[in-house]
Amino acid sequence: MNANPDTILAVAGLTLARGPRHRPEILVDDLSLTIQAGEMLALVGESGSGKSLSAAAVFGLLPAGVRRIAGSIRLQGQELTGRSERALRAIRGRAMGLVFQNPLTALNPSLSVQAQIAEVYRVHRQGSRTAARARASALLAEVGLQDLSGPRDHYPHQLSGGMRQRAMIAMALACDPPLLVADEPTTALDVLVQAQILALLARLQRERGLAILFITHDLRLAARTADRLLVLYAGAIMEEGAVADVFEAPRHPYTKALKAAIPPLPATSQRLFEIPGLPPPPGPPPSGCRFAPRCGHVRPDCRDAVPPLRGAPARFACFHPCQDQ
Ligand SMILES: Nc1ncnc2c1ncn2[C@@H]1O[C@H](COP(=O)(O)OP(=O)(O)OP(=O)(O)O)[C@@H](O)[C@H]1O
Ligand code: SF4
Ligand SMILES: [Mg+2]
Repeated sequence: MNANPDTILAVAGLTLARGPRHRPEILVDDLSLTIQAGEMLALVGESGSGKSLSAAAVFGLLPAGVRRIAGSIRLQGQELTGRSERALRAIRGRAMGLVFQNPLTALNPSLSVQAQIAEVYRVHRQGSRTAARARASALLAEVGLQDLSGPRDHYPHQLSGGMRQRAMIAMALACDPPLLVADEPTTALDVLVQAQILALLARLQRERGLAILFITHDLRLAARTADRLLVLYAGAIMEEGAVADVFEAPRHPYTKALKAAIPPLPATSQRLFEIPGLPPPPGPPPSGCRFAPRCGHVRPDCRDAVPPLRGAPARFACFHPCQDQ
């Protein structure tokens, strides 16, 4: 049972790996997070940090070769791990909506967007064709595509990138899911359209009480858009908490470095800060802090043990957090 009835998603100790069972390469290590109704959590991290795989695990859509070796995933109190593909498919359609970077890979080019949205609704809600079509029109209007909500069909190739992303969001919402996962939903869009799509997500979060997992590599965007931030590095949580804590006063040197690497606005001729080195490739569980090889604050004891997550309400995994130095 869920302790808090407003908790929509609760992930606990999720660990994902690839490679042989006796020598697994850890891709996501002991990930725990919760998202409440009406809340947006941003999962932030560099490329390869495990953001998309974590989302795929929530949807029960892990790619071949990647497996869950530990952890629980609860949606509205219901455990999702261990379910059959059939059961998961039914839950996915009704209770979780997924929006990702390139809507063209999700939209069928030979079907109108109205027909595609109506189809999702009909498959999961068993309504009549007329009811499904009316539902599609209402959803298109809700996401700002009033021009597409009339009887005339519109195909994905006739829409701009921003319109396609809106259509994708409408499709994800077809069955009124309590959870929306948006994986880099604006990375392919120009900054103006990006701002419009993020404003749309924020409005849907507010008006529908949606729980949103927003995945991005852009810390500034995450801080502007979400209520809480979860910073991932090499598959593990470095820091997590409200934007006011994590972004405004980071305790973890990695979060602080990510923030320092944000280009200033307006642009200046000042040299940008870069985090030296690269994240480690996936491997066996580490014996010390994963960030140690790149950390400007590293001390000898950082390599002796993995720093546990600590602190409240914001949590960080560091032996020598920034404001203590
Ligand atoms: N299908 C796969 N098979 C094996 N390893 C994979 C697979 N997909 C991802 N990985 C590995 O898992 C790790 C996490 O990948 P993931 O796609 O979750 O990263 P990400 O944080 O979403 O990065 P990006 O910002 O580039 O989208 C990476 O090391 C990646 O190489
Ligand atoms: S534990 Fe040590 S190496 Fe790791 S982030 Fe903190 S100060 Fe840096
Ligand atoms: Mg990704």
